[in-house]
Amino acid sequence: MSGKANIRIATVVGARPQFIKSFSVSRALSKLGGVDEVLVHSGQHYDPLMSDVFFRELGLKQPDFNLCVGSGSHASQTSSIISKLESILLSVKPDIVLVYGDTNTTLAGSLTAAKLSIPVAHVEAGMRCGVPTMPEEINRIVTDHVSSVYFCSTKTAVANLRGEGIRKNIHLVGDVMLDSFEAFQKEAEKRFIVLKGALSINSKYNLLTIHRAENADDSVRLKKIISGCARSENTVIFPAHPRTMQTAKKLLSSKSNIRLIEPVSYIDMLALESGADKIITDSGGVQKEAYFWGKPCITLREETEWLETVASGWNILAGCNPKLITDYINNFNPPAKKSNIFGKSGAADSIAELLLKFRSEAS
Ligand code: UD1
Ligand code: UDP
Repeated sequence: MSGKANIRIATVVGARPQFIKSFSVSRALSKLGGVDEVLVHSGQHYDPLMSDVFFRELGLKQPDFNLCVGSGSHASQTSSIISKLESILLSVKPDIVLVYGDTNTTLAGSLTAAKLSIPVAHVEAGMRCGVPTMPEEINRIVTDHVSSVYFCSTKTAVANLRGEGIRKNIHLVGDVMLDSFEAFQKEAEKRFIVLKGALSINSKYNLLTIHRAENADDSVRLKKIISGCARSENTVIFPAHPRTMQTAKKLLSSKSNIRLIEPVSYIDMLALESGADKIITDSGGVQKEAYFWGKPCITLREETEWLETVASGWNILAGCNPKLITDYINNFNPPAKKSNIFGKSGAADSIAELLLKFRSEAS
């Protein structure tokens, strides 16, 4: 443990949104002092545009360990992280293991720690969409049931945990993605001016992302989504996740109004969101960012964990129905006012302080 540190936290990340979420919490932890944060990258995301670009752009510290697990089936990816992480946790001996969201990295990180009797702190705890077979829902439920400290983004998440019998150490802190967003919002607005020129954006456009297994791996669903977007009046800018890229390329003609591009960096993504007329997505994080910017969001799923964005009238569920997608692109209009469903910024600072408190109460 470094000189004065009185707590050692092992942060386990591995997928694009986790680099963005951990930025704010790592910054808050280092501001507090006395914290030794050991960063473990599972290697779940490994392409430079899915991983390195975020470390560079956000100034994240380089991982202390990279497990380099790469892609694979759920079982092979998860088990590979577990077996590689165990020896690291045994040698690092953290006081707490910190995990984010609902990926296979989250599941593997939390299970490995729990089996070693190391307390797990879960950021974005309690999110549920009610589809028990969805990989992310399995990861969320298992992670929450082996965790010791819960950081919730919304009141619904708190109620979900209580409804499942979890009672202790639940904290409604707000959303760490709002902190990351606020840190880069101004820079993104400036970046938009540059991107507008670089991408020759001269008129209204919509922004599209697709990566959920149910959309990306099902070419019939993907075709329907793309045809719904293609029938809209405006250009659609589509930074495609590698999971979606090859199939999307095959489905798009050169005359299409959909412009397929490589995945973009975080600030470029915020910039593209800032200038978009509407945001069309199956991403959890992008649904939230649409709300932060005050952009109408059309969600390409039958359900969402971010119920409040729908209830407030700023997000609408279109599934893969092409008629609905086109109709919502042309006609969906949220109410004039936007309430503050994710609370004020500062979730990351609250998490950092609560982690220290948890540690001091446990020792
Ligand atoms: C994962 C998470 C999902 C999260 C998303 C964030 C799980 C089960 N899913 O989905 O919850 O919303 O990350 O983006 O953990 N690939 C590459 N290069 C990469 C990474 C992936 O080519 O750097 C391709 C591979 O073909 C891989 C596929 O994308 O098989 C899917 O990657 P994977 O990490 O399994 O799932 P995501 O769709 O990224
Ligand atoms: N994002 C990005 N570049 C892209 C697409 C998304 O930086 O090309 C960012 C986006 O701004 C958000 C996060 O990635 O902060 C969302 O991650 P993703 O959609 O991969 O996963 P999810 O949030 O659904 O788990």
